[in-house]
Amino acid sequence: MLSSTKAVLVIGSSGQIGAELVSRLREIHGADQVVASDIRQADLGDGPFEVLNVLDKSALSTVVKNYGVGEIYLLAAMLSAVGEEHPLKAWDLNMNGLLNVLELARETGIRVYWPSSIAVFGSNTPKENTPQHTIMEPSTVYGFSKLAGERWCEYYHKRYGVDVRSLRYPGLIGWKTPPGGGTTDYAVHIFHEAIEKGHYASFLSANTRLPMMYMPDAIEATIRLMQAPSEQIRIRSSYNLAGFSFTPEELAAAIRKHQPEFRLDYAIQPVRQSIADSWPASIDDSEARKDWNWKPEFTLESMTADMWVNLVGARSQSV
Ligand code: SER
Repeated sequence: MLSSTKAVLVIGSSGQIGAELVSRLREIHGADQVVASDIRQADLGDGPFEVLNVLDKSALSTVVKNYGVGEIYLLAAMLSAVGEEHPLKAWDLNMNGLLNVLELARETGIRVYWPSSIAVFGSNTPKENTPQHTIMEPSTVYGFSKLAGERWCEYYHKRYGVDVRSLRYPGLIGWKTPPGGGTTDYAVHIFHEAIEKGHYASFLSANTRLPMMYMPDAIEATIRLMQAPSEQIRIRSSYNLAGFSFTPEELAAAIRKHQPEFRLDYAIQPVRQSIADSWPASIDDSEARKDWNWKPEFTLESMTADMWVNLVGARSQSV
């Protein structure tokens, strides 16, 4: 466990994972011990906030010194679909951001959390129950920046003893932040449109099956991984992690239990479709289950019910 005198720094706090992780970490460590940061000013509730660009290593090191940071969650990254629009920028942010943090961890002994993704897999990877160790060959800049990042994490652990831990998240679904530049984001957008318009045009085709996870499970997995004793973390590249898998049609059927009139049709976006076609349909996460007792709680149905209640509630408060 982290010593109580050490603060936690979350980089990329305003994003989909950051927004939820900051509040969970503040429950665990106390609001003033968790420093939220992002490239732009944001209001993330009680607790310190710093405007920080992870590519600025000296600014990063100043924040770490000023707050006595002992643990960093590096969540700033460009996701798959936006990354294809800005390949070199995506590589720069995703790679050099990580290297800045790993270097700082090597110099100061800080513990690091860094997310990887199902995007590390490619079209030659076995699609069903994709194993932990298999053919990778990702085709997106996002995917191969994550794969290279995994190699760097393992390298810094083996070579310098850096305590770095990582999960390969599936597509993440949550109601607290709007969808933002990923390929799996249709599964967030669809809820907003179903509630506002009763209709959604999916950018992925009817039978595209992808591994997904509800945000409370993703946050729980992250916390559990970070709290596990170091010797239980046998994989220092990144752990496969699974929730449940579905297609747009199956998600629409689950939504119709809450809104029977909901209509789904298709406006396929070729770039996102080809990214999705190169990713697994389901993931084998038995290593995570074995090493640190991972087990997800949510199913497609319970996720849909919870998303629905929360988004309908949030909407009725805002009108
Ligand atoms: N959910 C991410 C994306 O779609 C993958 O990690 O880009």
